[in-house]
Amino acid sequence: MNDTKTLVNIKDLESPKGHFVLGHLPQFQTSNKHQVIEQWVKESGELFKVNFAGKEFVISADAKINHEILKLRPEKFRRLSKMNEILLEMGVNGVFNAEGDLWKNQRKPVSEALNVQNIKRFHPVIVNKTELLLKKFKNSINTTIAIRKEFIAFTIDVTTAIAFGYNLDTINNKENNFQEHLEVIFPMINKRITAPIPLWRLIKQKKDKQLEASLKTIKQIIHEFISDAKKRIDQNPTLKENPSNFLEALLVENKEYQFSDDEIYGNIFTMLLAGEDTTSNTISWAVYYLSQNPEIVKKIREEAIVVYKEDDVLTNNQLLSQLTYTNAVIQEVIRLKPTTPQLYFESNEEVIIENVIIPKDTKIILQNKIAQTQEKYFTNADKFIPERWLKSACPMHKNHSPRVIKAFGGGSRFCPGKNLAMTEMLVLISALCKQFDISMTVSPEKVKEQFEFTMYPDNLYVKLQPILSEVN
Ligand code: HEM
Repeated sequence: MNDTKTLVNIKDLESPKGHFVLGHLPQFQTSNKHQVIEQWVKESGELFKVNFAGKEFVISADAKINHEILKLRPEKFRRLSKMNEILLEMGVNGVFNAEGDLWKNQRKPVSEALNVQNIKRFHPVIVNKTELLLKKFKNSINTTIAIRKEFIAFTIDVTTAIAFGYNLDTINNKENNFQEHLEVIFPMINKRITAPIPLWRLIKQKKDKQLEASLKTIKQIIHEFISDAKKRIDQNPTLKENPSNFLEALLVENKEYQFSDDEIYGNIFTMLLAGEDTTSNTISWAVYYLSQNPEIVKKIREEAIVVYKEDDVLTNNQLLSQLTYTNAVIQEVIRLKPTTPQLYFESNEEVIIENVIIPKDTKIILQNKIAQTQEKYFTNADKFIPERWLKSACPMHKNHSPRVIKAFGGGSRFCPGKNLAMTEMLVLISALCKQFDISMTVSPEKVKEQFEFTMYPDNLYVKLQPILSEVN
């Protein structure tokens, strides 16, 4: 069909209203960039261009174009080079920002470390961290909880245990502000990615100094992980043949590729960053919906009782697939509140997608959230209806297009951590609902989407009531 359509040039695309010199930059100088883009889509349609003080970006909220671009990597598109520049400057030389052969070499051990078998093997770690967190909640009855912080701690502890064999206890605040230091990173990436001039290289403001201090502390901690792993390998040479985690796999001599110290450090950092906010924010969004829908909490609880009986947490990984309703709730949360609503790319060569000519080196932002909430793809698209994800979904949900969900990206650079994230979310959300009633202590309108490279519910506070106390 495409060849009968007229080809469209980027230069002919529309633009939303902007400043006569700075273009669209002033509007974009906010942390909530995703909402600015959503507003622009309303003004200019699903494919348009913007200008950030002379730098042109194409923005696409068109599900078909976005799907193609994701699929055409790594050959025809790369991540935005500015992203690589900013991450390298922070010492992050890892799989997320690598390209070409460098990316291929790094992607392999990352995918292996996070494959289904390994996640099954590490299921007890997820159970143990879930138990620790829920025990902490049991000691916080009648207390208002800033729950997002708790979930961040949970994901930091799970990722460090699984990927680096390091048993942190961030959940119980025993890690000298490690969490606070990690939390500084994403907002600064978000700020710097579209900054027209890298002012921080000339004058260091308070935030830049804070970032430097946090990076220094994180570096010390990661080097501790690395030196401990080296010691373990020296003491137990069988680990050279069979490394027991991601970090050991990077450290042992590898016939195909030897990782440099920079790459080892960069990939440890990448795993921490990639595995932490994305997952914990999705769990927080789940709690945002659950606290407003006690009947859904009850259904998750009933399912948990059927699947793992009197146990507090699901210990048998084989039974995970039986948490179908809990899974449907998570899918619906991801559809309505994807923590990565937009992704930034650049073209490696000229390419025609649908009928649009995208020249070499075009900077392009994919806005994926809008399609996930469009009526043409999901009936009653703005409503939270987990049932739409069940095989037995009721017929009123006419439109249902899971292929437009791009919350984990797509193509060969699809998120390798999806398995781990889904396991963490299923185990924790199921156990949380099995053991607690959840109520929000602020009114839902006061909980706002906040984007700081990932999108989270700002101002989410809840109380958790153990359900046994209802009986007593
Ligand atoms: C709900 C949780 C998560 C979400 C929504 C998420 C989302 C994403 C997205 C959108 C990308 C970019 C994909 C692309 O370019 O096509 C990505 C990449 C990545 N994610 Fe995740 N992620 C999650 C959890 C995790 C976890 C738990 C880990 C590991 C501990 C992880 C590790 C990575 C890595 C290493 C990459 C870079 C892959 C590459 O460039 O080849 N993610 N993730």
